[in-house]
Amino acid sequence: MHTKDQLIKEKLPKHIAIIMDGNGRWANRRSLARIMGHTRGMESVKQVVKACRELGIQVLTLYAFSLENWQRPKTEIKGLFKLLKQYLRSEIKALDKNNIQIKSIGHLESLPEDVQNVVREAIEKTRANSGMILNVALSYGSRDEILRAVARIVSKAAANNFSLAALNEETFSQELYTAGLPDPDLLIRTSGEMRISNFLLWQLAYTEIYVTDVLWPDFGRQELYKALIDYQKRQRRFGLTGEQVKGQ
Ligand code: FPP
Repeated sequence: MHTKDQLIKEKLPKHIAIIMDGNGRWANRRSLARIMGHTRGMESVKQVVKACRELGIQVLTLYAFSLENWQRPKTEIKGLFKLLKQYLRSEIKALDKNNIQIKSIGHLESLPEDVQNVVREAIEKTRANSGMILNVALSYGSRDEILRAVARIVSKAAANNFSLAALNEETFSQELYTAGLPDPDLLIRTSGEMRISNFLLWQLAYTEIYVTDVLWPDFGRQELYKALIDYQKRQRRFGLTGEQVKGQ
């Protein structure tokens, strides 16, 4: 049994990023349609968002739909967008009441218009909220994001709005979708795969990675606490020696 009381408040991550994997396998094991796995996965989203808000996590980034996911069967894509719309429609009041700000990263403009509208409305409605940022990756790919940042910098430089002498990690980060957000401290991936899957490649440079065999629809509050307890046992060295870190 993992509880909130086992956590050290001062050592909680500011930013948690999650690759929510295993919805399909969860459904397959029960001989259900894949979309049923996503539907249950949505319940996990609700639980984890709630638990993170209660813990005072500043940013929660969820990998909801990757650029590669466009290659899935049309019916599954439709079903996923339907779920996203349902989630935002039914939860927006509660999210807003809990002072949660919705953001998205990725090609929002490539989503069906009705989905875009619901996401944009949620972003607009919660713009001034300061309790937690719920950042949803939609039509997102990290290499694409990096190339986009390079293109933005090149075009600013060509227009004399940016001097290449000012190019450094900070100024580059400002051109990513995640501009202004701290890098993730913890990446959680469910369902056992040891991969990053084109997610936040730049931002994950020093992130602690936690992989669990638990499938996303089975990941709830308990599993989140377990991941956080594991995270808190680690020593983050950022390239220093263990002794140097202890002396800080
Ligand atoms: C991975 O499982 C999951 C996805 C591609 C989609 C995740 C989306 C949701 C949980 C719902 C929408 C989210 C939000 C934030 C409102 P998989 O299908 O790759 O599983 P498999 O690897 O077992 O097939």
